[in-house]
Amino acid sequence: MEPCTFILFGATGDLAKRKIYPALFNLFARGLLPEHFSVVGLGRREWTAEVYQAAVERSIYQFSRTKPDDAEALNRFLQAFAYRVLDIGREEDYRGLLAQVESHENALGLPQNRMFYLSVGPEYFETIADHIRGSGLGRVNGWKRLVIEKPFGHDLPSARTLNRKLAESFAEEEIYRIDHYLGKPVVQRLESLQQANPVIQALWTNRYIANVQITASETVGVEERAGYYDHVGALRDMVQNHLLQLLMMTAIRLPYDGGGAEQVRFQKKKAMEALEPLHLDNAALHVVRGQYAEGTIGGLPVAGYTSEPGIPAASANETFIAARLRIDNNDWRGIPFYIRTGKRMKKKSTRIVVEFKAPLKQGRHEGEGGALPNLLVIEIGPEESISLRLNTKEPGAPDAFKPIRVDLHLTPPDSPEAYENLIGDALRGDAAFFAHWDEVERSWQWVQPVLDAFASDRVPLRRYEAGTYGPAESDALLAADGFRWWFDDDEPATSHSKSTEGDRYANHAHP
Ligand code: BG6
Repeated sequence: MEPCTFILFGATGDLAKRKIYPALFNLFARGLLPEHFSVVGLGRREWTAEVYQAAVERSIYQFSRTKPDDAEALNRFLQAFAYRVLDIGREEDYRGLLAQVESHENALGLPQNRMFYLSVGPEYFETIADHIRGSGLGRVNGWKRLVIEKPFGHDLPSARTLNRKLAESFAEEEIYRIDHYLGKPVVQRLESLQQANPVIQALWTNRYIANVQITASETVGVEERAGYYDHVGALRDMVQNHLLQLLMMTAIRLPYDGGGAEQVRFQKKKAMEALEPLHLDNAALHVVRGQYAEGTIGGLPVAGYTSEPGIPAASANETFIAARLRIDNNDWRGIPFYIRTGKRMKKKSTRIVVEFKAPLKQGRHEGEGGALPNLLVIEIGPEESISLRLNTKEPGAPDAFKPIRVDLHLTPPDSPEAYENLIGDALRGDAAFFAHWDEVERSWQWVQPVLDAFASDRVPLRRYEAGTYGPAESDALLAADGFRWWFDDDEPATSHSKSTEGDRYANHAHP
């Protein structure tokens, strides 16, 4: 792998501590960092290299999935970290940084390969990119890459403006837009699920699939992020990026030879181009907007959204979204894709369920004698698995079917985390699992009319009890098409009922 200088803006921040340093450490431990690799951490605090290295070391002990077991190797890793005070708004500071980076590159005779990682608030993205260009840091005889965290814009116009500004300093192929959902191990394997399995690939069309359900439910509330979240809401925070990325990853059909990053991104773009837009007037038909009220999670009472510290009592911000989307192309015409996400729901679970058609009962999910539709269930987190739900006959009960689960894939418990995968990819220059501007722009194009419909109050805000699966209208959205949410083995989706703990999946064959 080519030598590289990793220039980290926001080196003293939370993301660096929790995700970036552990990711770098694990890449190092797996031999996946370049031989000549150095980090220049940038921040406002007056830290020395020693203080910085001690902070990196602490973060590894605290957050890394593997812990150091070789003091000498750990020391070698930490020696690669230098620290520099930088005021983001002062170009002079960037020139000082350039001198430091150049002198290191020259001393070791290294090519000027520079990765700029922006682990800072979005309000700084443009300024930093500008100064990288203005100071000369971006003029390299090797490669330069910009890794940028979300959010990419606040709406369609601001995303376009940001992209225009970044494009003045970096070419599209140099920009790596992080969506950590694309780094999740199971998401990274979706591609090969199709490619390595002609059976699955053959079924991957509207001929055999009845609907696709993508869920990202969380049990946490706004946590310490009230100020951020109340201005953002679930649509921007989760749908515009993570859920639409999962939708794209599910909707693409890849050639058998894969085709690499270009092909993946091209197919994703095509899927987004075929996504039917919503309008101010029909958004309410396809989108459910919710906000949690007080309730119980894990046996403990939790406050409603508007009683959370820092949230205005009159806030109409959404903490839940469910939506029906349609992709108007030959593969998916006529098939609904349902997405939903929410805070303070019953369970933390990110999953994709592909429901197959039941030929004898088109559009219905309950078959004869307890047979359920075949489902392909892709658990992305916190569980990681891919499995098929099939039906079998119970011996001794000739008229009854019993659903069974066939596991196709289990990720080993110590598999790399999203950031490890993504940073490793970026260092190798593999952009397959980063969001291309075309995808980001098209996501905002779908989201924008919905934001406008929210702003003009055309989509009612439904309250849901904390600890449930969201408002009843979310179930009604699927019921209108003859479907239901599938949650997991043991629990069918029930939005409003307080507890379904004892319910068995099979018992719901005939609700
Ligand atoms: C982040 C959102 O992007 O994703 C958070 O800003 C959310 O609000 C988080 O909690 C969920 O990520 P994960 O990996 O826990 O599903």
